[in-house]
Amino acid sequence: MTSLYEEVTQVPDGVPTRRVTITVNGQKRTVDVEPRLLLAHLIRQGLKLTGTHSGCDTSNCGACTVLFDGRPIKSCTMLAVQADGSVVETVEGLTKSGALADLQESFMRHNAMQCGFCSSGMLLAAAELIEKQPKASREEVREWISGNYCRCTGYHSIVDAIVDVLDARAKGQKIKPVLANA
Ligand code: FES
Repeated sequence: MTSLYEEVTQVPDGVPTRRVTITVNGQKRTVDVEPRLLLAHLIRQGLKLTGTHSGCDTSNCGACTVLFDGRPIKSCTMLAVQADGSVVETVEGLTKSGALADLQESFMRHNAMQCGFCSSGMLLAAAELIEKQPKASREEVREWISGNYCRCTGYHSIVDAIVDVLDARAKGQKIKPVLANA
């Protein structure tokens, strides 16, 4: 099997390709792709945004979650050609919105990651929840992240971390840095 990197950048002669333009984290990217290439693989192997993980490639785990035209989607459920003309935000892009900083601090404070494989998908789902449902209850947080699997934490610490960010934002506060000198 050829590597996905080769699928994106070194398409063999005779293989039909399509040109797609996607705005990723505010930057317009134009690439030639095989029509069968998944959006998740274009983002990760083609565009080198490796914060987006590939866990199951069957739309179950949520590790590949990105924001697609403002909505969280599992990028393994979409072909790259279907994303032509769209706006995509990956976990790398979250740094610009400021949402990542609070969530990162809170995830650290609650030890809400162990292996870290699910973290980028969780952070994107959580960032969207904070924006769309700032008054979400603990149960609603659980429901919101139900499409993202975590194999290590048992979810409690992740829910605690997200709820703390919601509480802090409701009070107009920031999450305190975990490191004393930060
Ligand atoms: Fe897309 Fe698991 S890799 S849902």
